[in-house]
Amino acid sequence: MVGSDKMRISWITEDSGTPATVKYGTSPGIYPFSANGDTTKYKYILFKSGDIHNVVIGPLKPNTVYYYICGPFSSPEFSFKTPPAGFPIKFAVVGDLGQTDWTKSTLDHISKSNYDVMLLPGDLSYADTLQTLWDSFGRLVEPLASRRPWMVTQGNHEIEKIPILHRQSFTSYNARWLMPFEQSGSTSNLYYSFEVSGLHIIMLGSYADFGPSSAQYKWLNNDLKKVDRKKTPWVIVLVHAPWYNSNNAHQGEYESYGMKSSMEDLLFKARVDIVFAGHVHAYERFTRVYKDKANNCGPIYITIGDGGNKEGLATKYIDPKPEISIFREASFGHGELDVVNATHAQWSWHRNDDDEAVIADSIWITNPSCK
Ligand SMILES: [Fe+2]
Repeated sequence: MVGSDKMRISWITEDSGTPATVKYGTSPGIYPFSANGDTTKYKYILFKSGDIHNVVIGPLKPNTVYYYICGPFSSPEFSFKTPPAGFPIKFAVVGDLGQTDWTKSTLDHISKSNYDVMLLPGDLSYADTLQTLWDSFGRLVEPLASRRPWMVTQGNHEIEKIPILHRQSFTSYNARWLMPFEQSGSTSNLYYSFEVSGLHIIMLGSYADFGPSSAQYKWLNNDLKKVDRKKTPWVIVLVHAPWYNSNNAHQGEYESYGMKSSMEDLLFKARVDIVFAGHVHAYERFTRVYKDKANNCGPIYITIGDGGNKEGLATKYIDPKPEISIFREASFGHGELDVVNATHAQWSWHRNDDDEAVIADSIWITNPSCK
């Protein structure tokens, strides 16, 4: 999604000279509209990417199915549905996807959920420097990502920096997963915000500087000041490394406690409703929290890093369970956030082992919880 009524289509072709052009319309096979964009490519040690095309199309009507074809126009027709203009809206939320059989079952369940927008808090392909795995990840998610907006932020597996051989971070991620950062006043693809159907959604960067003098901190402070709760009654944040976590995995990482100590006050004062994280390969839901204590004015913290990557589950937990942790379980799955109206949303966590009808954890979230 780019702005309130546009969408960026991104695709990669092997053949150079393919036009960065998308033709589209609201009926199958009929494309009265056409838009042009840019083509880029990148090098990673000896790997040369295909041509990466990015085209922004629109203005588009809300809650409408558009049919489209991409250059060189020999590929099949795709279609996507734009998000609704207002409530209700449904989000699928899952991090740490990878490309295993577990990933496939997660994606299969998500595809049946009738979601409007995907929110992905980092760790996408687990290419881990093997660039062809970015291409296979693209093919794996294409059936879903070509149909709905996928809004992502980065995880540690996207860094792909190697001493001497490749000194730049996020080369592939930034080239392949271009997000609408400029539209929110950000200068980095690693953090940005966007608004959809009554929600202000902030994507933070665990692996970009986050201290009080950093560009990300200043941007976040400004971004939160711009939020109009009448227009967007809900404010949601995604970040890769969780600020609250009672799993043994990833304890004591600077990206978690350092970012929390820098930015928790900003989110608390802005009355952020929910903070989603990944990184830990399990599911955990906290109560509303501020500075490690239950606080009715703080956000609900949810770890949803159980998409299904090759590293497996994080099964060991700190014992006894902290009181602020309400539900925790190491199983693969995904989350769904049904925002019904300006005051009520239902969050549910779905295990892959279960039929889609079975919801393992579910709560109603009310807004405002605190004035
Ligand atoms: Fe991670």
